[in-house]
Amino acid sequence: MTGRILSTSALVGPALGTLGARFPELRLAPFRSPAWTAALPEAEALVVLLSEPLTEADLAAAPRLRAIGTYSVGVNHLPLEACAARGITVVSTPGVLTEATADLALALLMAVTRRVAEGEALVRSGAWTGWAPEQLLGIGLAGKTCGILGSGPIGRAFARRVWALGMHPVFWDREGAGGQVDIGPVHAPRLPLAALLPASAVLSLHCPLTTHTRGLLDRRALEQLPPGAVLINTARGGILDEGAAMDLLDAGRLGGAGLDVYAGEPDLDSRWLRTPRTVLLPHLGSATVEAREAMARLLCDGLAAALNTPRC
Ligand code: DGY
Repeated sequence: MTGRILSTSALVGPALGTLGARFPELRLAPFRSPAWTAALPEAEALVVLLSEPLTEADLAAAPRLRAIGTYSVGVNHLPLEACAARGITVVSTPGVLTEATADLALALLMAVTRRVAEGEALVRSGAWTGWAPEQLLGIGLAGKTCGILGSGPIGRAFARRVWALGMHPVFWDREGAGGQVDIGPVHAPRLPLAALLPASAVLSLHCPLTTHTRGLLDRRALEQLPPGAVLINTARGGILDEGAAMDLLDAGRLGGAGLDVYAGEPDLDSRWLRTPRTVLLPHLGSATVEAREAMARLLCDGLAAALNTPRC
């Protein structure tokens, strides 16, 4: 079997090692390290992380490349058109991180609305003096509308969770307004953005970052949310105008934000650290043992299939 595989890191579980044993070479080298750059011309498959953007120049430097596997469902860091033009198969990990990512979005929603981080910090500080009627009052969710941008598997899984809390999920997606989205136990309406935003006590982002969704939630869109609305982003930072979101949080116009992703991550805008009513996580959406092992299996199976397929 041919196939020199160059991976920027080890993956969770045995899948990458097993894949490497089936092919002549599996080399691990940090992204853009001298060893990685030196191995690129001979590489037939690359494994990269979502934080490692590949360029057309990388493809040009890798004339033997037949497949790229990204350890993520998102593919916004890959030059997709150039890959297609060169006949390079792109393998990502849809499906297996759906529940983990929806769980994390729910964790952020609960943490923001019930002020979990502040409460925990109060107890740990030793400054808690006891139960008080107005202490750390949060925001109730039952009966309220939850706007969800994106009706793919993660958006639908999140909708099931908020429906179970007694919320009313409504969707916006690129299919346009009208019709219903089947979320399993019930159907939820698909609305135009202009109708969804003013109705959404909670707005959660679950769409991919594409040319169509970059900057989708700009200042004008955020200002259409009702006063006190809570924003959750486990999708991609580039979908949201972070400066506008921070302005509206500072002004008390938004009720809170729970973020797992940031435009320039890991270099997040330091203003986030001073913005009130926020819970900030380090891109943990898929970070469960189960999801990360399944992602590795899916990725490695996809690469094996691509390397075993003769080039047309
Ligand atoms: C992905 O895999 O693209 C997600 O961002 C994980 O959280």
